Amino acid sequence: MADQPWGAVDKYLCDLLLEPDPSLDAALEASRASGLPEINVAPNQGKLLSLLVRSVGATSVLEIGTLGGYSTIWMARALPERGRLITLEAVPKHASVAQGNLERAGVAEQVEIRLGAALDSLKQLADEGVGPFDFIFIDADKENTRAYFEWSVKLARAGTLIFVDNLVRNGAIIEGDTTDSQVRAMREWMENVSDDKRVDVTGVQTVGSKGYDGFALAYVIDAG
Ligand code: SAH
Ligand code: DHB
Ligand code: MG
Repeated sequence: MADQPWGAVDKYLCDLLLEPDPSLDAALEASRASGLPEINVAPNQGKLLSLLVRSVGATSVLEIGTLGGYSTIWMARALPERGRLITLEAVPKHASVAQGNLERAGVAEQVEIRLGAALDSLKQLADEGVGPFDFIFIDADKENTRAYFEWSVKLARAGTLIFVDNLVRNGAIIEGDTTDSQVRAMREWMENVSDDKRVDVTGVQTVGSKGYDGFALAYVIDAG
């Protein structure tokens, strides 16, 4: 990919349009130092998430897949002071690196990290009557995308936006005979959601510093 202009174009866009934020840089640095995989969203995608959170006037955000809290910080920054974000993470080390990053970024008061398998945490949230969430970011193990989406609609209201990361995976999404369990799961979800009348959905391909991928964005019409 070295001969592609995507990385350089991302740098151009990010340098011009993104305010320097030392705590976001520090979050990536601490994540790297702790050996976390560098699979956080790109900075300009983080800003897209923050603009979407602002656009819907969200005061409650749910994230599935925290990692080091990089995307979490982007979204938390877009909340009003009374706004709250719950983020779900299965790996204790990821959660503890994220907690440090959230504290350094000054958003720890607004964010709750729930440690455990997201499917369990989602059921707990529903049992506790938490929600509805105004904005939901699905970015964990892709095998569970369909289940995460189902829970997300349950925890949503009419007008909630659900952002599903990593839709395209270098073009693999169109490989009907793929043996990649993540891509198969994403295809199954796509085929299921295409005639789901509760939501209105688009899919967008992206290129940039994180390579060739994409996302789906769902608008909840009827949370049921
Ligand atoms: N949203 C982050 C990146 C998340 S990477 C960002 O952009 O900065 C995906 C995360 O999901 C990883 O930290 C991984 O440990 C977590 N994860 C994977 N399977 C999970 C599960 N079943 N339940 C909860 N979290 C899970
Ligand atoms: C990868 C990227 C992601 O955004 C993610 O959530 C998981 C994996 C990757 O590039 O492997
Ligand atoms: Mg992702």
